[in-house]
Amino acid sequence: MGSNRSSFTGKIGFVLAAAGSAVGLGNIWRFPYLAAKYGGGIFLLVYIVLSVTFGFALMVAEIAIGRKTQLSAISAYGSLDKRFSFVGVLGALVPVIILPYYSVIGGWVMKYMVGFAAGHTSQMAEDSYFGNYLGLTWEPVLWFLLFIGITAVVVMLGVEKGVEKVSKVMMPILIGLILVIVIYTLVTMDGAWDGVVYYLKPDFSKFSMMTVVAAMGQLFYSMSLAMGIMITFGSYIKKDISIEKSVKQIEIFDTGVAFLAGLMIIPAVFAFSGGNEEALGQGPGLMFVTLPKIFEAMPGGAFIGAAFFVMVLFAALTSSISLMETVVSIFMDKLKWGRKLSTLAVLGTSLVLGLCSSLGYSVWAEVRIIGMQLLDFFDFFSNSLLMPVVALATAIFIGYVLKPKTVIEEVELSGPFKQKKLFAVVIRYVAPACILVILISSILTAFGVFKI
Ligand code: PFF
Repeated sequence: MGSNRSSFTGKIGFVLAAAGSAVGLGNIWRFPYLAAKYGGGIFLLVYIVLSVTFGFALMVAEIAIGRKTQLSAISAYGSLDKRFSFVGVLGALVPVIILPYYSVIGGWVMKYMVGFAAGHTSQMAEDSYFGNYLGLTWEPVLWFLLFIGITAVVVMLGVEKGVEKVSKVMMPILIGLILVIVIYTLVTMDGAWDGVVYYLKPDFSKFSMMTVVAAMGQLFYSMSLAMGIMITFGSYIKKDISIEKSVKQIEIFDTGVAFLAGLMIIPAVFAFSGGNEEALGQGPGLMFVTLPKIFEAMPGGAFIGAAFFVMVLFAALTSSISLMETVVSIFMDKLKWGRKLSTLAVLGTSLVLGLCSSLGYSVWAEVRIIGMQLLDFFDFFSNSLLMPVVALATAIFIGYVLKPKTVIEEVELSGPFKQKKLFAVVIRYVAPACILVILISSILTAFGVFKI
C-alpha cells in the first residue's frame, strides 16, 4: 500500500496537478453559460460564497481522507467504515457519466479550432452556424471519436506526464489570451459594459433555488469534487504539505479562470444581443456562438481564434485524461485487468454514452428525458443528483461518523489548521443542510415542478 504509491515531489507539483485536473471545460465552457443563464451577478455571488465555505470544506476533507488512508476513493470510504463503501462506488460512477459528454464538447472544440485555422471565421460567426453544425449528425460524432480516441491513446500508453507538461505551458498563454479578448471586447464593443454590470452586480430579484442548485453543481464539477478524484490526489501527497494552503491556491486558481472566462463571454453576449434573455439563456452553445463573433470583429481574429481553441483543447484534454485515468485505475484495481483492457472497456462504455449525447442534437433531437436533451440530461444527472448524494454522504460521514477531528488532525500534521472552526461547522451543519435542500430541488426540477 503506502510504500509503493508514487508521490508528488513537492507542494507545487501537487497544486499544479490538482489545478490541471480542475481547470478545464468546466471553467471555460460551463461556468459562463450558467452564469449568463442564472442571473449573472447573483450567480457569481452564490458561487463564490459556496466556494469559500462549502467547496473549501469538502476539498480539505477529500484530500485528507486520501492522505490518511493512502487509498483511492473506491476503497478509501470502505476502509474507514464498511457501511460507507457505497459512497466510493457512487463517486466512481460520476466520471463514467461525465467523460462521454465531456468528450463530445471536446469534439466541438476541435472542430472550431480547425475551422479558425482554415480561415472560416465569418461563416462561424453566423448565428445559425453552431446549430446547423450540431444538426449534421455525423461530423460532430467524428470529432467526438477523435477527441476520445486521443484521450484513450494517452491513457493506454500511460504518457499523461507529457500532456501535462505541454498543458503547463499552455495554461498561462490561455489566461493571457482570455485577458486580451476581455480587454478588446470592453474597449471596442458598444453595450459590453452593460454586460459587465449584469455579470458583476448581484440582482437579488433574479435569485431562485435553481441559482443555488446550478452553482453548487458547477462547484463540484469545476473543482473535481464529489467524484473521488481529490481523494486519489490526496493519497499521493506527503504529510508535510499543508492541505489548507494548497486547497486555497487550487480554489483561487480555478475560480479565477472561471471568472475571467465569464468576463470574456458575458459582456460580449450583451454587446451582440442587447442583453436579450434568450441569448443569455441559450445554454451549452453559448461559448461556441459568442466567441466566433468576437474573433470575426478582431484584427487577426482567425489566428487568435485558432490559438484560443488550441489552448482550450489542451485544458480539455488534461481533464478528460484525468477523468478516464480515474475510471481505468478503478478497473485495474478492482477487476485486476491490465491497463490496455481496462482502457478499452472504458472507451467502449464512453462511446455508447457519448454517441447518445452527440446524436441527441441531431437524429435524436426529439428525444427528451425529464424534458432535457440527452447531453443536458447526463450533465444534470451527474452534477445535480449523483454528486450531491456523494457530497451529502461525505459530509455526514466526516461530520458524524469519523468526526471532524479526524480530518483536522490529518491537516494539522503540517502545522496549524487556521480555519478549523469554519471547517467543522460547515461539514457538520451547513453542508448537509444545504445539500439536502439542493437535492430536493433537483428532484422537484426533474419532476417538472421547477423550471430549468
Ligand atoms: N474540473 C474539470 C473541469 O472543470 O473541466 C472537469 C473534471 C476534470 C472533472 C477531471 C473531474 C476530473 F477528474
